[in-house]
Amino acid sequence: MDRSNKPSAIGVGASLPQPTLSIKDNVVEASLPTGQSVAVHLYGATVTSWKTGGQEQLFVSETAHLDGSKPIRGGIPVVFPVFGPPPQNHATSSLPQHGFARNSNWEFLGKSSSEAPGRDSDQTDLTVKLDFGLSHSMLTDEFRAAWPYEFGLVYSVTLTTNSLETALQVRNEGQQNFEFKVLMHTYLSIADISDIRVKGLESKTYVDKTLQGTSHTESSPALAITQETDRVYQQLDPAVPIVVASAKDDQPLFSITREALTDVVVWNPWIEKAKGMADFGPDEAYKNMICVEAGSVSAWQTLEAGEAWEGGQSIKSRL
Ligand code: BG6
Repeated sequence: MDRSNKPSAIGVGASLPQPTLSIKDNVVEASLPTGQSVAVHLYGATVTSWKTGGQEQLFVSETAHLDGSKPIRGGIPVVFPVFGPPPQNHATSSLPQHGFARNSNWEFLGKSSSEAPGRDSDQTDLTVKLDFGLSHSMLTDEFRAAWPYEFGLVYSVTLTTNSLETALQVRNEGQQNFEFKVLMHTYLSIADISDIRVKGLESKTYVDKTLQGTSHTESSPALAITQETDRVYQQLDPAVPIVVASAKDDQPLFSITREALTDVVVWNPWIEKAKGMADFGPDEAYKNMICVEAGSVSAWQTLEAGEAWEGGQSIKSRL
């Protein structure tokens, strides 16, 4: 646990309200004194709730499985070490779609708090960081056999007064190189898909999974979702935000910046696919969600023995 910025640095005698933490039924929940909260299920280290201003920012299906029998349909599942159906003749070939991170039991490593400059210049805001770990020895026998590499993942979920940050560190703790892909499969909660535009994608190349994986160039400065959408936008500048805005007044609802994650998947199952997924409900809920998924998925990352890689996203809401 990083204790370098622990709250006692504020000064002896200062007793500012501190973030609160609870762990119940495999869910770790933290709240800031300013009211924001986050909940992370140990199954998949899936963020299942992020509230700001009393409002839920993430979509979770009403029929999502929360008992560890299936990846959680909603929130922020972590996709690792493969994205989508694994290719044939690859080290990941025997893994399920999207790998094993979202359907493994992670360990809670601890919480740390620190101060960040507040929105007002004379104010200091607290942030709380929750760390989760997953390693080779924690996998089921089936996953260990399917992907026999010695790895360590540390996933950090940081709640601030105006953002949620998720960062993943991947370590190769074995003797052999391995290849991986990674993605933060974020389900954002929205009031109405017809009022949403996704900005920051214009002129970018994307692979359209609804059109046999063909490549296209995005022509729209503000993408409207009007049908099943499953696109992998590639080679984006991680520092340039992807903004989900309201079409009515162009107000940003979410803004997502990334680090070391140069791809962004935009996914909405639309009417038929939503009906076809037993854990997606109610059927019309496709109108209330959009997945904007920060990842590194268009090419494999190679991690050499003893090396580490890190990437992450920062989501700001209702700016
Ligand atoms: C997206 C993929 O990331 O996840 C889609 O691009 C996929 O192709 C979607 O349908 C949901 O996947 P799953 O395995 O959670 O149903």
